[in-house]
Amino acid sequence: MNDDTQPIRFYHRGEIVQVQGPQTTRSVLDWLREDARCTGTKEGCNEGDCGACTVVLGELDGQGALRLESRNACIQFLPTLDGKALFTVEDLQEQCAGAALHPVQQAMVDCHGSQCGFCTPGFVMSLWQCYEQHQAAGTRPTRQQLADGLSGNLCRCTGYRPILDAGQHMFELPAVRLDRAAVAAALHGLRRPAGLHYAAPLATREGTRTDHFHAPATLDELAALRLARPQARLLAGSTDIGLWVNKQFRDVGELIYLGGVAELKRIEERGGELCIGAGASLEDAWRALAQRAPALAEVWLRFASPPIRHAGTMGGNVANGSPIGDAPPILMALDAQVELRQGARVRRLPLTDFYLDYMKNALEPGEFVQGLAVPLAAFARQVRGYKISKRFDCDISALCAGFAIELDGGTVRSVRLAYGGMAATVRRAAQAEAAIAGRPWTEDTVRAARQALAQDFKPLSDMRASAAYRLQVAQNLLQRLWLETRAGDPLPASATNVFSVMPHAAA
Ligand code: FAD
Ligand code: FES
Ligand code: FES
Repeated sequence: MNDDTQPIRFYHRGEIVQVQGPQTTRSVLDWLREDARCTGTKEGCNEGDCGACTVVLGELDGQGALRLESRNACIQFLPTLDGKALFTVEDLQEQCAGAALHPVQQAMVDCHGSQCGFCTPGFVMSLWQCYEQHQAAGTRPTRQQLADGLSGNLCRCTGYRPILDAGQHMFELPAVRLDRAAVAAALHGLRRPAGLHYAAPLATREGTRTDHFHAPATLDELAALRLARPQARLLAGSTDIGLWVNKQFRDVGELIYLGGVAELKRIEERGGELCIGAGASLEDAWRALAQRAPALAEVWLRFASPPIRHAGTMGGNVANGSPIGDAPPILMALDAQVELRQGARVRRLPLTDFYLDYMKNALEPGEFVQGLAVPLAAFARQVRGYKISKRFDCDISALCAGFAIELDGGTVRSVRLAYGGMAATVRRAAQAEAAIAGRPWTEDTVRAARQALAQDFKPLSDMRASAAYRLQVAQNLLQRLWLETRAGDPLPASATNVFSVMPHAAA
């Protein structure tokens, strides 16, 4: 591997910045604070949880327009900025003539949205993305939409009400808008004919080595690179990997970054399936699922937070294979297949066959997840996703359930029940399914299924829940499924009608 390296190039503070030298896993937050001396962006948890480090990234969308999305700078690696625009709290005032504050900042002052101020830059950047999104669309956010958009920002002082007030008040002040066309033009100038290869020295105990960061630009380039370098770590949104580096001090070595492959981000209906590219953001992928199964809106809203959903990918959630990953149970209930690519070969597996054991999957050396395929017929069933966690927002599940049931009059024609958090891998509840399929959909059938479920799973106790609690709740969720889908007088599905609450298209 030659060590030739290209500098990382991105738009920051109104100009194109070139960076060469920092190690490949240097976080955007550390670069901002220590190298660029932009200390407005704060460090709180350093693990994507608190929002103090929120920045906004601008990227060109498929139509060449600027798309703005909040991100957690603490778990975003610097080389992933290549070709993008980076906006921090220091940028807002520069959009205003004279010493005036940006309407978002002025609204925070007017509404007393800041006390100690530690969280404030992060809130301001999340609000600014919302401000630009709604100004561009000519819409105004509901208070619930504001709250959802801020679910990745924690404040210990204000109690949030003044910040929500500021989120509404900012639209009443004289408008200040980003010159999006100018930024988009700058990004067009950063487009590379082929992928980025960035190399940087890393001092280790054994001496200095060169670390390589590859960002292929096409699917074929990615497939060839993956085959040639099976030992390299695939990097998608780094919302898992970022914590390995920050919290476990793991040495992730050579990286192949998927974020530059536009084909991997596609979500489209093709041949009777909803095809979700492995690089599609969680936000876009969950939106596509919830548009076809509105009852999934709540599990979408409660998956992490907007900055995590903007960075993280559904392919990463599936490939990571955490037993409490929230997407796999829903995708298994939807009878999803995982599409795997190795060089020119593409094969498919039912997602239910993809996990072999705890954090072990069926990927072969040189292979990667190319996408997920959900049969459109699956959306004709009654689909539910239930996420059980201690905090409502931005919390890892104690258990998560994905259900799909098809009724023929009062009888169950087909049923799929998948659980996360109940075993070493996400998997279906075969015995509970057998107790339901073909039976009348009655409370007696549910009672039999609850007992059968106790044969399907022997959950563990851990800091998130006891084994007894997990089994009890898993059984109760079957009851809830029946209450929400029984003939005559069903309970409403718990999800808010998201599409009246949250169009959540990125700005
Ligand atoms: P990365 O971190 O980039 O990669 C994860 C793993 O998958 C790595 O091993 C990587 O090599 C591999 N990988 C990625 N893409 C591919 C591919 N295409 N082919 C093969 N291997 C691949 N998860 C939940 O399920 N529910 C939550 O509510 C939730 N909340 C979170 C909150 C916070 C604050 C944080 C930091 C994380 C949270 N997560 C949650 C975990 C994480 O966000 C998800 O697992 C996310 O989907 C990972 O995707 P990623 O693109 O960031 O993966
Ligand atoms: Fe807490 Fe980044 S420092 S989310
Ligand atoms: Fe102190 Fe929010 S103002 S943490």
